[in-house]
Amino acid sequence: MKIKLLRIDNCRIISHCSIEPSAKFNLISGPNGSGKSSLLEAISILGTGRSFRSKSVIPIVKKECDSLIVSATIEESRGFLHSIGIERGKNVQKLHLNHNPAQKLSQVAEYLPIQIITPESIDLVLGAPKGRRSFIDWGLFHVEPQYLLLTQKYQKLIKQRNALLRGKVYEDSELDYWTQELAKIGEEINQCREGYLDELLEHFSNVATDLLNMINNLSVSFEFKRGWKRSNTLYQSLCENLQRDKTVGYTSMGPHEADLIIIADRARARQHLSRGQAKLLSIFLYLVQISHLNQKRGKRAVVLVDDLFSELDNDNAVAIYDYLKESDHQVFCTAVTIEYSSNSCDKAKMFHVEHGNITPV
Ligand SMILES: Nc1ncnc2c1ncn2[C@@H]1O[C@H](COP(=O)(O)OP(=O)(O)OP(=O)(O)O)[C@@H](O)[C@H]1O
Ligand SMILES: [Mg+2]
Repeated sequence: MKIKLLRIDNCRIISHCSIEPSAKFNLISGPNGSGKSSLLEAISILGTGRSFRSKSVIPIVKKECDSLIVSATIEESRGFLHSIGIERGKNVQKLHLNHNPAQKLSQVAEYLPIQIITPESIDLVLGAPKGRRSFIDWGLFHVEPQYLLLTQKYQKLIKQRNALLRGKVYEDSELDYWTQELAKIGEEINQCREGYLDELLEHFSNVATDLLNMINNLSVSFEFKRGWKRSNTLYQSLCENLQRDKTVGYTSMGPHEADLIIIADRARARQHLSRGQAKLLSIFLYLVQISHLNQKRGKRAVVLVDDLFSELDNDNAVAIYDYLKESDHQVFCTAVTIEYSSNSCDKAKMFHVEHGNITPV
């Protein structure tokens, strides 16, 4: 998927913008506060319904406006064109797909797989398990679209079971019914995750060697923790932990507790790596994930990279910048200066941002 034409109205400092980006690499430069991240934010709202900087849409809508609008013409790898759009405001959420109203964000999101790399992406390696679960689930959502239904079902079931655990009056048979249902869907989610990770991590070992050379030939391996004892079925673990779950009032085991342990040079990556190394490893994991998506489903993600150069030394910054420029993905990359752009590839475009106005250079 490539964005051929992008229109933004009323997103933070950007009043109106209409650009035709390169199908390959787009460098967005400009001074602090000019609107570079706001441009990426607008694309992320179109592809995911959300900003990567704010949970609420209210601070993102331009002051004194009621809503923001982002729309795009998307080109599929087979050359078909689609138009997608979103309007969001305090009490507004309207979606359109090929000039018809769309009901669900997932319908629009399928046309625009977006991988977002920001300074906070370092949390994939250094942060809490939730980020790594989201990483796995993002991949599964795009590789196996029916996976979304499983996770939605699981959320409903766990809510129901937790409500019973917290309540004082219920029949044990009722709790057991919800435990069985939860265990069934939980096992399915886990099967999907394990299958996906087997493929993804094999792909990582095939393609990441060059990348890992950048971090002093780091040796990286992974260990998946599924969220309950390996020797048990989920139902057995839920039954064994019933008393504890009743005491704490929530379900303490299941795929919602899963984690992907990252090991670098035989130590836990989060305890061993420097911040720059952790940032590079996080970027590699995101890039390997979209390369796998492309190989598996022929879907090319659009990559948004905010503030690429923070925390990277000059050699690594240049190496990762060149790698992104030569990648098969459409990349939007922000930088305060354009010093790395001297040897740009022929299909790259540069945009300069000043007070929310975005102009091709
Ligand atoms: N709702 C809003 N309405 C109008 N302007 C806003 C709104 N929210 C933020 N701004 C302004 O938008 C500007 C652009 O911010 P943005 O984060 O996009 O800049 P940037 O170019 O990425 O800067 P940096 O180089 O520091 O990362 C800021 O100056 C901010 O004051
Ligand atoms: Mg910024």
